[in-house]
Amino acid sequence: MKIIGINGSPRKKVSTTLKLMQAVLDGAKEAGAKTEVIDICKLNINFCTGCLSCFETGECVYDDDVASLIEKMKMADGIVLGSPVYIDSVTAQLKRWIDRSANSYHCMTLLGLGKYGCAVSTSGGFKEQEVVEYLNHVITDFGVVPIGGVGVAMAKGPEAFADAMSKAHDLGRDLVLAIKKEKRFPEGEARVQERKELFKNLVNSNKDIWQFQYEFWKERGETKP
Ligand SMILES: Cc1cc2nc3c(=O)[nH]c(=O)nc-3n(C[C@H](O)[C@H](O)[C@H](O)COP(=O)(O)O)c2cc1C
Repeated sequence: MKIIGINGSPRKKVSTTLKLMQAVLDGAKEAGAKTEVIDICKLNINFCTGCLSCFETGECVYDDDVASLIEKMKMADGIVLGSPVYIDSVTAQLKRWIDRSANSYHCMTLLGLGKYGCAVSTSGGFKEQEVVEYLNHVITDFGVVPIGGVGVAMAKGPEAFADAMSKAHDLGRDLVLAIKKEKRFPEGEARVQERKELFKNLVNSNKDIWQFQYEFWKERGETKP
């Protein structure tokens, strides 16, 4: 079993978000998974230009690291997303990849593959829970069932961080158990289902222009010709 963590902090080894993510991965490792951290800042990722080529053909005009990252996600059983709070949101480095994944959301590329995910965030003082929620939303749009998240404001001090690290460790263990036992998460599954209906209908109503996405859903047996 493989769990990957994708971290959006540019602070490399000193990143507190990385520490929290590492706690999730350590918990997963102890429960029997192989783990890997991917530092989004080390990848070559161009900004989305909004050309919509991927909607029409399934291919991006850029030959960079986005395609290999989605392949890694396809190979993984569990996915952890992490970002520090930068001006009430995720870092630009992570958002650049999130935007480039628009075709994957419209197709919900990882839907129905039994994948589970979770999210972590640290802030100076505010909005870490909102970022956790947003990252779990991104996970959902890939078609992955979100099982929870941990966010902590560093201003709350070392005790709060230690508590978050402990919760993150438990979250990693829970992620592995969810995968092993194909555990049901009614709330997370309902979120996936809601987005599925939304994207399917969106693609259907744009079928004349978003041919790739339309064919993708059709092959899944979900969209009427
Ligand atoms: C450019 C920038 C913007 C930030 N914006 C916020 C913010 O809006 N709210 C907040 O609470 N903390 C903010 N912070 C603080 C970081 O979220 C905080 O230091 C976080 O723990 C850093 O995580 P990292 O060590 O993983 O990089 C900001 C930090 C930077 C460098």
